[in-house]
Amino acid sequence: MMPMVPTPDSIPTAWGYFQFFLLLTFPLHLFFMNAMIGSSVVAIYAHLKGDDESKNLAYELAKVIPLLIALAVNFGVAPLLFVQVLYGHLIYSSSVLMGVFWILIVPLLLIAYYAIYWYDFKFASLGRAGILVLSFGYLLLLIIGFFFSNNMTLMLQPEFWGAYLENSSGTLLNSQDAVLWPRYLHFMVGGSAVGGLFVALYGRFIARRDPALGDRATATGLKLFLVLTLVQIAVGVWFLITLPREHMLLFMGQNGLATVCFLIALLLVLMALFTAFKKRVYLTTVITAVLVYFMVFMRDFLRGGYLKDVFSMDMLQVLPEYSPMIFFVVNLVIGLILIAWMVRAAFTRCED
Ligand code: HEM
Repeated sequence: MMPMVPTPDSIPTAWGYFQFFLLLTFPLHLFFMNAMIGSSVVAIYAHLKGDDESKNLAYELAKVIPLLIALAVNFGVAPLLFVQVLYGHLIYSSSVLMGVFWILIVPLLLIAYYAIYWYDFKFASLGRAGILVLSFGYLLLLIIGFFFSNNMTLMLQPEFWGAYLENSSGTLLNSQDAVLWPRYLHFMVGGSAVGGLFVALYGRFIARRDPALGDRATATGLKLFLVLTLVQIAVGVWFLITLPREHMLLFMGQNGLATVCFLIALLLVLMALFTAFKKRVYLTTVITAVLVYFMVFMRDFLRGGYLKDVFSMDMLQVLPEYSPMIFFVVNLVIGLILIAWMVRAAFTRCED
């Protein structure tokens, strides 16, 4: 093992449980994160257009974006816990290297949240200035995503950690890594596309009380999904070819399962494009949800590829202690029921 990499802590149950929950919960974080940024893009666009119906659409989204931020943050907690259990010795190290930016996420998130709530509550009195307020909040969310991509890539590359000897102020970013920007853009462009699909879906909900506005939301959301998914194909190719060759080859036959995931994901992209073109919102949503899961599996194969020389799951020592896991599962089930109830209650309020 490289001397720079700390020894992993022991874990209380077999690593497979943690891996399962990590891969189950991380896409949930992504869904809400995507819905949050996609809805912001559509709201800014609609508000800029400025006609009455567009402004109504912006206002409908203004009401829902704060809820999406709350859900994105809450669904981020679960994968954060699991990633720390499995990769704690790596992610703690990278978090220290970029500590200033990592801690900065909390105040940035609070300010973004405040700005977006302000946009919602003062929509009428802010007028066109609301566009600036929302854009400011949106920009902060993009910056937070950038810090996440930095940490998620820095934790995989202990060979870069030596930079700490020259800069120990906690202001290191992973900017020497050519993969950082395509990876980040892959998240933001793809995320905005999926967010567009959320707006299309939300349009179906609005249509129950205001058919014209609902149809408008669905049409705009689907258009964003189609355009950005096409852009995403180019970004995805850029991401793939920027990867170090040995990692890229994982998806080109070197690892059977990773290659199958890649092929299924490509097929799902084509299917989602086709169904979105045919305006089949619900079917496109189901296909896209499955697609996001496959992309997350691919991301996990990539993480394994990066770490193969310094860490593998079988290095984690198990010191059995089952009660925290049981306690977690019980809480998860209760929490999910409560969240479903809250979301329902919130949507009922929006309908009134
Ligand atoms: C609300 C603004 C947020 C945005 C825009 C955002 C965006 C992102 C992005 C783009 C990634 C993927 C980075 C990459 O792999 O390159 C990511 C990963 C992650 N995010 Fe968030 N995030 C946000 C908030 C949060 C919060 C508040 C938490 C925790 C409470 C969180 C937990 C996580 C975790 C744990 C991962 C990595 C999971 C893994 O590696 O398996 N996120 N986020």
